[in-house]
Amino acid sequence: MFNIGTLQLQSSLILAPMAGVSDLPFRLITRRFGAELAFTEMLNCRSLGLKSRRTKQMIASNEQDRPLGVQILGSEPYYIKRAIEVLQSYSFDILDFNAACPEKKVTRRGEGAALLLEPKKLQRILELVVQAVSKPVTVKIRTGWDNLSINAPEVAQMAEDAGVKAIFIHGRTKQQLYSGEVDYQTIRQVKRAVKIPVIGSGNIFSGPLAKRMFEETGCDGILIARGSLGNPWIFRSISTYLKEGRQQPLPSFLEVIRIMKEHLRLCVEFFGEKYGVIIYRKFFGWYTKGFPKIRPLRQLATGATTLQELEKIISSILVLENYQRPIMSGVK
Ligand SMILES: Cc1cc2nc3c(=O)[nH]c(=O)nc-3n(C[C@H](O)[C@H](O)[C@H](O)COP(=O)(O)O)c2cc1C
Repeated sequence: MFNIGTLQLQSSLILAPMAGVSDLPFRLITRRFGAELAFTEMLNCRSLGLKSRRTKQMIASNEQDRPLGVQILGSEPYYIKRAIEVLQSYSFDILDFNAACPEKKVTRRGEGAALLLEPKKLQRILELVVQAVSKPVTVKIRTGWDNLSINAPEVAQMAEDAGVKAIFIHGRTKQQLYSGEVDYQTIRQVKRAVKIPVIGSGNIFSGPLAKRMFEETGCDGILIARGSLGNPWIFRSISTYLKEGRQQPLPSFLEVIRIMKEHLRLCVEFFGEKYGVIIYRKFFGWYTKGFPKIRPLRQLATGATTLQELEKIISSILVLENYQRPIMSGVK
């Protein structure tokens, strides 16, 4: 469908980087339903250099987990260069640089979205990264710092001049964090300002919202983030909607149980039983969001410590089978 540098993509639906979420098990599950390109969560350049166990887990991948985008976060050339050296021994297809994270602990170090306030500095960093990495380099930005300083079109042009091969843009300012209107207009201006592909992000919770992002911005691809939490099927349902204009029904409870168990097993295989079960608990909550009478099972899941216990709890979701699942709604 489109290329990011030398990487050819058949699908324009991409799994977004999400801290604490986009680990290997989750990426593998979403790929089953059509996420072709998927991202790791952001990796702090300082921590990457320290090669901690946790950081290694964040970059770990396998042959089914391709194509893979790795995202880095930083602002100091020394740490960025050191992180890139560490990354040389890992295999991935795209290196994305984060200039979008709005968290205080990140922006007060001059990293993430704070770099939108210093476009020249961001450009110099991107030049450095492009020179140091043989894979296509991309950047993830927001529309600006706040609504008085929207500068994504200029930032995107500067990134293109630095040699970046695609722009990922969350259509909100840093100040908006994750709520409020998505600014399709500014994404459209970014698309007009550069020749490289532009991938839009923000509120892609359904087929109609995906269509809206494509139509209102002219973007080449879309990043799916919160819409995939507990709903890896979203990739298939958006794809069907874009091709055929029809909404797919939600997966049956049986199908949800099957995927929940598969996801759990991948977590335990990857993180080990003790940690895997803990990591999985939040996914249990997301998978069962809106399920009728789910509270007692959720409480049990929160206290579960073994694979067997959690599998049993997941199986008992089947008692809900008598409830009708709604047709997927158009807008969340
Ligand atoms: C839990 C969570 C973690 C996130 N972590 C990252 C991250 O590590 N790097 C990044 O660039 N964006 C991150 N984001 C932002 C998303 O990639 C995405 O741009 C944003 O959530 C808007 O998309 P949505 O409305 O579909 O959720 C995160 C979002 C969420 C909800």
